[in-house]
Amino acid sequence: MADDKVYLKLQRITIRPFQDQDVADFFEYRSDPVANILQGYTPFNAIEQARDYINEQKKHSFGPAGQWIQLGIAENASDKIIGDIGMRPLDYDPRMVEIGFTVAAPFRGKGYAKEALAGLFSWLFGEKRIHRVMAITDTENHATICLLEGLGMRQEGKTLKSFWNNGAWRDEYLYALLSEEWISAN
Ligand SMILES: CC(C)(COP(=O)(O)OP(=O)(O)OC[C@H]1O[C@@H](n2cnc3c(N)ncnc32)[C@H](O)[C@@H]1OP(=O)(O)O)[C@@H](O)C(=O)NCCC(=O)NCCS
Repeated sequence: MADDKVYLKLQRITIRPFQDQDVADFFEYRSDPVANILQGYTPFNAIEQARDYINEQKKHSFGPAGQWIQLGIAENASDKIIGDIGMRPLDYDPRMVEIGFTVAAPFRGKGYAKEALAGLFSWLFGEKRIHRVMAITDTENHATICLLEGLGMRQEGKTLKSFWNNGAWRDEYLYALLSEEWISAN
């Protein structure tokens, strides 16, 4: 069973497990058919999907190889969920972690993703002794590219037509950051 502890308390936001009271906020941005189109998941069309997803996540905690955990990003002032972060220790070596993230459209451009990921990197590379963090993004996802490069992630490669999304094959970039790179820069 997942614990319900706060993973990270940051200046303006908290990264914490989803709770029952988050269903409506989670459903609102996960059902948006346009805002997250480059992520490639099918938008929710019923609130029960958000409830089921949150209930499933309650069974997860950070650590098991190959398992994604999805945590909410909550505004400290309101405890409202404004986005989420996914993390998955790789199945063949859990000292390496893949991440994904979303900020709800009305909350973008305020530095929330940057604050969340910077906090997460310090926790992963510090407390959790993770060796390498990676992220994969659509080559046309300019907001994500800016975010990742601004945090010091290196573009390590481009894969051609490697992701099927909305009826077309899409190209992707692989980004990565090593523990020593983060620690020496921060
Ligand atoms: C990518 C995303 C998480 C960024 O969230 P955000 O909270 O708006 O990002 P921030 O405000 O922290 O901005 C971080 C940096 O990216 C830049 N940035 C943000 N959106 C941008 C955009 N649309 N175009 C260009 N730069 C952008 C900011 O200027 C900032 O740059 P700085 O470090 O020089 O100040 C958000 O746009 C999103 O959820 N997109 C849809 C989901 C998605 O594609 N997720 C990634 C899947 S791999």
